[in-house]
Order: sequence, then C-alpha cells, then structure tokens
Amino acid sequence: MLNSADLSDRNIISTRSFSRERIDKILSFAEKLEPVARKEARCDILDGKVMALLFFEPSTRTKMSFETAMIRLGGKVINMGSVEASSVAKGETLADTVRVISGYADAIVLRHPREGAALMASEFASVPIINAGDGAGHHPTQTLLDLYTIRRESHLDDLTITLAGDLKYGRTVHSLCYALSNYGARINLVSPPELRMPERILEEMDRRRIEINIFDSLEAAVKDSDILYMTRIQRERFPDPAEFSKVSKEMRVTKKLLENVRPDLKVMHPLPRVDEILPEVDSTPHACYFRQAFYGVPVRMAVLSMAMGIDDIDPETCIRRI
Ligand code: NCD
Repeated sequence: MLNSADLSDRNIISTRSFSRERIDKILSFAEKLEPVARKEARCDILDGKVMALLFFEPSTRTKMSFETAMIRLGGKVINMGSVEASSVAKGETLADTVRVISGYADAIVLRHPREGAALMASEFASVPIINAGDGAGHHPTQTLLDLYTIRRESHLDDLTITLAGDLKYGRTVHSLCYALSNYGARINLVSPPELRMPERILEEMDRRRIEINIFDSLEAAVKDSDILYMTRIQRERFPDPAEFSKVSKEMRVTKKLLENVRPDLKVMHPLPRVDEILPEVDSTPHACYFRQAFYGVPVRMAVLSMAMGIDDIDPETCIRRI
C-alpha cells in the first residue's frame, strides 16, 4: 500500500487544485493509450491490479468507461453493486466501507450523492480515491475527458466556451470551470435564473482573472463560441419537484439555433441528455457528444494507471498493435 503522502498525489477529488501541467500530463498519457481504447492495440500495464466501483447513484458512461479502461489495460474490476444489495443497506458508514474495500482493491472509484463524500472517503481509504461525482460538487474525470475532447476537436488555448443548462446543480460544469481557468478561457454562462452558477465559483473565477459573461439567451451566448457545452437539468437534485417543472423546458439546442454559429462550433454534453439537444442535431458536423463519451475510455485509462503508480509509458515497448 502507498503511504498517505503518496496517496494525496494519486487521489482525484476535485479539479480546483489541478495545475495545467498536471492536466496536460494526463491528457498526453491518454493520447498514447487511445489506440488501445479504439481496440487497435493491446496493452496490459494494469495486469494484476484491481479497481473497485462504489456507485451510490445511477451511472452508465462513467461506470462502464472505467470498467472498460481497466479491463483493456489487463486489470480486473470488483463492484459493490447496488446500495440495496450491499451492507450500506444495513447502515454501514462510507468511512467503514472504503476502509474495508482498501484491503481488496488498488483504487476506489466512488460516486455518491453527498457533496464532499469523495474527500471524506480519501481520509479513510488507504488506496487512491477517484471521485466519479459527489452530489452537485465535482466530477473531475468527466472534466478531464471534456478537456481531452476540446483539445482533440477544437483548441484549449484562446477558447470561448458557452456553458448552458443547469449551472447550479451540474457538477460537470463546476469542475470544468476550475480546470478551464488554467487555460485562460472566456466563459459564457446561460441558464434559467433559478439555476445560475454558484456565487462561490463566480468569485473564484474572478480571483483567477477569468472572463465570465452571463447571458439570458442561448442564441446570443453561442454566436462567437468555439464550444457549446450543454447540460441536463439535474431533476434528482431539486428539493421541490414543482420548481423542476417550472424550469425544465426552457432551453433547447436545435438545428435552427445552429444556423447562426461559427462553422467549427462543437456541441458537447456529458450525457445523458433528456430533451435539451434535439436528435436532429446529431447528424450535424457540430455534434461531438458521442465521441466525447468515447474519450472517457482513454482518459480513464490514464487516470487509473496514474492512480496505480504508472505515470507514463513508452508506447514502443508497452503497446502491441493488433
Ligand atoms: C453527468 C453526471 O453524472 O454528473 N453524467 C456523466 O457522468 N456523464 C451529467 C448528468 O448526469 O447530467
């Protein structure tokens, strides 16, 4: 097992403290592993390692792309399964669960409805904790794959990006803001008034001298953007269901909206979408959300390898073409 000093570098809890150097290192590592994710090559650097999945909230992409990443690098996966089927249903605390799972696995991927859960878990675990979403808090590995997508399909330097939808409860946009501040991006925000970006994040962006512009209309916000990052209204985080129905139908990405944007604008979405991007957009050159979901695999390969002590590889010796 690693000692706690090593562990604090290997945990991935929030993008708030990520430096540009650390992000660029992860993205470059992911790039080397992309042929493995594409099933064009083999690489077994995680042979003999075990990843534990602890998901206390629903997930498709995050959970399955972590599993895919681990398996394609030769590692194995153990999964707590549903909360109802685990000892959590008997009243076990998260602290005890992660203490125990630390004895079984080399890293723990945790998704939890409570903000701060991953940070708390990292204080009790003796293996790295990777935060796969903590309530409305952070979702750092989603951000890394978002940055990978932007780097691959657009550009990270001199970027104008519009973040739209549920900016209050959407953890993906919170994490993305912090990470983008390393690249000096111009960030446009557009949301229903009830779902604005939390003040504490706006203040921090101001301290980091990031240009933020708040818009009322999606049309105006996307006009000069390189990226439109759309999000789902986070229904499950609304304390009052009546509030949800008030805001749920306000913002849509349609083909018509995209008539007046830059030809190279890319539309991203962490998925799942509900009805905020119409299916008619899928076949336009702007849509890149399904490729974005795929990029989760190489990025999570890099994240897992680094968590398990492998910070880089020589593709010549580690990757075999098939
Ligand atoms: C996101 C999440 O869980 O925060 N999904 C994901 O991980 N791709 C976004 C969402 O649920 O809306």
